[in-house]
Parts: sequence; structure tokens; C-alpha cells
Amino acid sequence: MELQAVKGTRDFYPEQMRVRNWLFSIWREVSECSGFEEYDACVLEHEDLYVRKAGDEITQQLYNFQDKSGRKLSLRPEMTPSLARMILQHHRALIFPVKWFSIPQCFRYERMTKGRRREHFQWNADIIGQPGEIAEAEILMLLINAMQKMGLNADDITIFINDRRILNAVLEQVGIPEPHHAEVLVILDKRDKISPEALAELLREQGIAAAAIPQLLELLECPDLKALKSRLGNPEPFAGLETLFGLLEASGHGDFLKFDVSIVRGLSYYTGPVFEMNSPDKSQRAICGGGRYDSLLSTYGGETIPAVGFGFGDVVVLDVLEAKGKQPQLDQRLDVMVIPFETDQAGTALQVASSLRKSGLRVDCNFSMRKMKKVLQQADDAGVKQAVLLFPQELEQGQVVVRNMAERSQQNVALADLQSGWLTSQ
Ligand code: HAM
Repeated sequence: MELQAVKGTRDFYPEQMRVRNWLFSIWREVSECSGFEEYDACVLEHEDLYVRKAGDEITQQLYNFQDKSGRKLSLRPEMTPSLARMILQHHRALIFPVKWFSIPQCFRYERMTKGRRREHFQWNADIIGQPGEIAEAEILMLLINAMQKMGLNADDITIFINDRRILNAVLEQVGIPEPHHAEVLVILDKRDKISPEALAELLREQGIAAAAIPQLLELLECPDLKALKSRLGNPEPFAGLETLFGLLEASGHGDFLKFDVSIVRGLSYYTGPVFEMNSPDKSQRAICGGGRYDSLLSTYGGETIPAVGFGFGDVVVLDVLEAKGKQPQLDQRLDVMVIPFETDQAGTALQVASSLRKSGLRVDCNFSMRKMKKVLQQADDAGVKQAVLLFPQELEQGQVVVRNMAERSQQNVALADLQSGWLTSQ
């Protein structure tokens, strides 16, 4: 019997679950604070939802299978196609724009490297039905808000941003015709992962002229938005990002944003701004990534509905927080431990615990009947604030001993007072 979790997947013991819940609670809180509503879908989807002709890597990483009726299904590798499907199914009933968020678990048969696993949770927030950069600004501000809630600021993280329209202009400049753009961008996204020779080979296989390849790679090194704009000689593809930079500057978030022509993104459905968040020196895998995808919904046979959003995984951000010493230290959150010292007090202990729980306290009982010192140590380890000690002599007089764990002080309290709210009135 294999006791290890499936390779690339994680078990969440209570200690890790506390951290996961903390992260999810920040994601939920900032989303709801900015008017995003939560949605969900099943982890199982029809496989063809993920099949794209540009050859996206994600399609080769599917956990797919046939069910007993021969349906071709897949665990979801990302949430965006499910979101597009749900929007299309109900688009007549929806009032656009919609702002939705979700925290799905996603599965990808990935090569396991630092920050990449075969299962991860991914916070998604998307605005559907709003063209133009105000939606992008809202999406980026939501991301920044989440990072600030985690104690990270512009010294710790940067959002590197580019625009698919700029990339398309770069490809045109070196003579790559439009029908090849989606495939070439998927290849260019692999630049950091494969050798320059392998990259050149993949581009040649796409029919890209050998002379165009160094030209292309040289343009993709251009560090500055203005410099690239003057080299391409066509201002149009730059207008969107310029507006977006202006909006983030005006809202006081400009420090977080940096133009980076090397950001391509591996998903072929992006049509406008694309971004990734990383440490300023890009020493991590992307903490999150997203962009505008105005034509995904129409590729599923629906009408064209503009959309923008991001996916933010739970793996890299926890590595970043740990590296910066900002991972939260979270204890079990118990308020009270009720401790009987003889077996025949178990009923009283349960009854005391029940009445305290009804007043909203988090209460556990310790039925180990071990020595006082040991039990108090266990209560301390569980982060308990008050211990209710059931000593036979005191109980006979209708009293219990309440111990303040931090102050190590204790006092007798009438059982009746304890049950009518003495602890919460302190
Ligand atoms: P993605 O770049 O494939 O985009 O993934 C987004 C984020 O999910 C990554 O930046 C990373 O934090 C996390 N992630 C992805 N794969 C893994 C993995 N194997 N292990 C751990 N974390 C991972 C998308 O999925 C798009 N659907 C995002 C989006 C939403 N675009 C628009 N709306």
C-alpha cells in the first residue's frame, strides 16, 4: 500500500491547513472588498475545453481520461475556460460587466521544478464585459491589495507588464506573418526554459526565416517602452499600456508596475496587456500571471465578450513569504480547554464545554486524565487562553477553577456563573 500522496500533490496537515486558510481568507477578503463575487465549477471538465490550435503547453499537461461512458474528460488545469463556459451559458441573464473570483484546485502534469507542482490552488479574479484599461487597473489594484495585506510592498514585488499587441507589432517588424503569431508566442514563452539553439530550432520549424530570429530576440531585449515605440515606428499598439500606467500612477500604485517586453505568457488566448508578478530581480517563478483575453469566449462559439483577469497560485507566494520571513505563525485557535481529572467527571466536562461553545467560544476537552502539569502543557501548545479545571473537591461545592494560561493565575468560579457567560464577560 502506497502511503505517500501522489507525486506532485500535497497533503495538508492541520499546520499547513492553517496557512492555506490564512491565504484563502486574504484572497476572499480583498476580492469581496473590491466588489468581486465568488463562483465555482466542478474540477472535471470536457477535455476539448482545453484544446487550442496554437499548441499551448497546458494542453499537453492534461490529467485526462475517458469515463465509463467513453466521454473524454479532464481535471481542470486552469479556471479560465470553465469561467468562459459558465459566462456563455448564462450571458443573457447577466448584467455586464461582471466581477467574479474563485479559488479552484488545478491539476497539471508538470515537470516538477521549484514553485511548480502537479496540483495547486489558484486564486482567479476576472472582469468580464468591460473593454479598456480601467478593468486592467482594477485587476492590478486587487493584486496589489492582496500583496499589501500579506505585508509585501513595492520593494518586495513587481508586476512586469507587456502587451500582446506590442508583441504582434514586433513579430510583424521582423516579417513574421499574422497567422503564425499565436504559435510563435507560445514558443517564445519557453525562452527561459530551453537553450537558444532549441528555441531557434522551434522557430525554424514554424517556418520563421533564420535571419528573422536574431532580429526578433534582439527586439525582445529592449528594456524601455519609449525606446521600443520609437524603434517600431507605430505608436498604436503602445496606447493601451500608456493609459494603464497613467491610471495606476493616478491611483497611487505606479511603483508596482514595470514594462517588460520579455513577458509573453504561454496561453494563446491573450489579446492585450499581459502581466506576471515576481520579486523585483525576478529571482522566483511567477507568483501570478494574467492578462486580457477578448476573443476566448468567441472561440467557444459565443459572441465576443471582452475579459481580463489573473491566476495566482498558492505555491510560489508562500515560498516568497518564507524567504522574506513574512510567513504567518499561526497557532491552533482554541479559547478554552475543559480539563476533568476523573473519568466520572466526563459528563460535566461535556456539559460545560457545550454551554461555553454556545456563547461563541472555541472549546475543547482534554480527557487524557493525565497529571495536571502535562495537561496544562498540552493546553499551552494548543494556544488555549483559559483552562477550566474540574477538581472533585471544588465541583462538590458547585465550583470550577479557571486558569489564565498567559498569566499563570487561577481563581474559583461558580459553575452556574461560568455557564451564564462569566468567561466572555472578563
Ligand atoms: P498561468 O500563468 O498558467 O495562468 O497560471 C497562473 C498562476 O498559477 C502562475 O503564475 C502560478 O502562480 C500558478 N501556477 C500555474 N501552474 C502551477 C503549478 N504547476 N504549480 C504551482 N503553481 C502553478 C492561468 O492559469 C490563467 N488561466 C490565468 C488567468 C485568469 N488569465 C486570465 N484569467
